[in-house]
Amino acid sequence: MASERVLFLHSKNSFMKIIGTGSALPSLAVTNDMLSEILDTSHEWIATRTGISQRRIISHESLVELGVSACKKALENAKLEAKDIDFLICSNTVNNYVTPALSCIIQGELGANCPCIDLNSACSGFVYALDMAAAYLDARKAKNILIVCAEEPSKIVDWSARDTSILFGDGAAATVVTQGKKLKSIHLSTTCAVEPLYYQRKLEFNPYNKKEEFKPLVMNGKDIYKMAVNASVQDISKVMKEAKVTQKEISFYLLHQANVRIMETIREYLGEKEEKFPKNIHKYGNTSSATIPILLDEMNRGGQLKDGDLLVMSAFGAGFSTGACVLEW
Ligand code: UT7
Repeated sequence: MASERVLFLHSKNSFMKIIGTGSALPSLAVTNDMLSEILDTSHEWIATRTGISQRRIISHESLVELGVSACKKALENAKLEAKDIDFLICSNTVNNYVTPALSCIIQGELGANCPCIDLNSACSGFVYALDMAAAYLDARKAKNILIVCAEEPSKIVDWSARDTSILFGDGAAATVVTQGKKLKSIHLSTTCAVEPLYYQRKLEFNPYNKKEEFKPLVMNGKDIYKMAVNASVQDISKVMKEAKVTQKEISFYLLHQANVRIMETIREYLGEKEEKFPKNIHKYGNTSSATIPILLDEMNRGGQLKDGDLLVMSAFGAGFSTGACVLEW
């Protein structure tokens, strides 16, 4: 039986601000029409049910290369160098290495020399990483923190399953945060619910134990859909209440890009305008924890954000874990 526990809720203008963003996507764009050549599906079905037209899939490049490239762009945007970073947090669900952590490999390639840690909160990872960074900054344990969300869900989906493989894409995005009173509120929650979405890694055979069964990614799309809408609507109202802000004051809602219908339903519940919900899911699909920071980077570089804009971010994913925050740009 699943039960909700609020893990962390703090506000009072937490000691954090975003000073740089960057992103990197694989070069190969896999269109819905390309998928319909290998699966019993169609562009029409995928586009109407999900809002996705294409996704980027890692072919010749590596996840490390994408992560490093996103970090370099974010550092440049923040006008910092790798040596200025005091802590590196990498949000990642799966990659080639079980150990060392992906953050260590990215740190080495970047030429940084700070402590590193990997965090796995599935698609909510970016908000969890912001929360962790805020705690380090609040405690004065770091001045500049680099968060990189590097994800390759294409390596865990079953490419013969049309209900899951069509949804995901690979990508990386990085964000540099430093001290500054811009984070207005943040809320994380985790409800243990494994069945709706899980993937078990294939491990070495242990001669003292029975052979483990292996299944590709398992997802109950309908359950995830409902959980996502309910959680996001609740999380958004909690963080806005905590930050003492009204809907009128919010410039943009950056939602986890999982399904355009999920985002539309959340928007309708909130009774908000369409233009306040930027989307890029049609181009990239669901890149797990990288969706929000990729979107943020596109908006930053596209000149869509101005000083003082209030942003709501809300993410949800396997766990079932969710996170939301209000922050000022
Ligand atoms: O970060 C979180 C990750 N997960 C998610 O965000 C998933 C959230 N859920 C969803 O996005 C939706 O539930 C899906 C897009 C996965 C599915 O949409 P749906 O409207 O819930 O469709 P459904 O599962 O009810 O399937 C309807 C029909 C079924 O056929 P029958 O049983 O009615 O004959 C499916 O077999 O659509 C069929 N179907 C497809 N048909 C063509 C499922 N996938 C496909 C496909 N192409 N790719």
